[in-house]
Amino acid sequence: MSYGIAVEVKNLNVSIAGKPILKDVNVKIPESTITAIMGPSGSGKTTLLRVLNRLIDLIEGVEVKGSVKIFGRNILETDPYEVRRMSGMVFQIPNPFPHLSIYDNVALGAKINGIAKSKRELDELVKWALEKAMLWDEVKDRLRDPPWKLSGGQQQRLCLARALALKPRLLLLDEPTANIDPVNTLKIEEALRNLKKEEDMTIILVTHMPHQAIRISDYIIMLYEGVVVEVGPTEEIAINPKHELTSRFLRGEM
Ligand SMILES: Nc1ncnc2c1ncn2[C@@H]1O[C@H](COP(=O)(O)OP(=O)(O)O)[C@@H](O)[C@H]1O
Ligand SMILES: [Mg+2]
Repeated sequence: MSYGIAVEVKNLNVSIAGKPILKDVNVKIPESTITAIMGPSGSGKTTLLRVLNRLIDLIEGVEVKGSVKIFGRNILETDPYEVRRMSGMVFQIPNPFPHLSIYDNVALGAKINGIAKSKRELDELVKWALEKAMLWDEVKDRLRDPPWKLSGGQQQRLCLARALALKPRLLLLDEPTANIDPVNTLKIEEALRNLKKEEDMTIILVTHMPHQAIRISDYIIMLYEGVVVEVGPTEEIAINPKHELTSRFLRGEM
């Protein structure tokens, strides 16, 4: 186990079509922790995640300035395809590959990237990823089914398993429970806690649910209009937020 810095963002400024979206963002995220990025809609949470996996490159008219290091590597000066392999990503709306079976949804990336070589290795990896995503028991007898036979919450856990099969050290999730029911939400939260503990994974989770941030995160980053207004350990921020905007957000007023 090591507890170095997983992500270090310095003087990050992002603008789209000349409009500033992230303004002088500075954050350091320690390894093997869960960090929640909170803030009202439009505050730049998704944009920050998109910088971390360079999906920001796909937006037209974007300008990114500053330095972003992931495990010591400046990702703004690294090939974007390589950057995307450094982290796993789960999106707000479950997006399993509709034409692939449950098994292949999890296996495909691992196969392409050479993570599992034999059929047996692949079977083991798929099982491991589905177990870690707390989905194995529900799908082990129907791995050849298409994903649309699963509920929305199960599909989201499948997307988590798909990300995990690539064995990322860093996992990024953009409001992963915004569109699913409370039971599935708790399962995903438990999966994330276990991944931190058992796999030493570093997890960055965007959430608009203050209770979720308090339940599972070690650190909170509060964004508002592209500015980090508060950052610190969750236990401190939950009890004694320093910024009025953080208090209002935690009270559910925005
Ligand atoms: N592709 C885009 N083109 C233009 N503006 C964008 C684009 N994506 C995001 N924005 C703007 O950036 C700001 C932050 O958006 P976003 O990062 O999606 O916020 P959040 O995830 O916190 O809701 C918003 O004002 C949004 O309109
Ligand atoms: Mg968003």
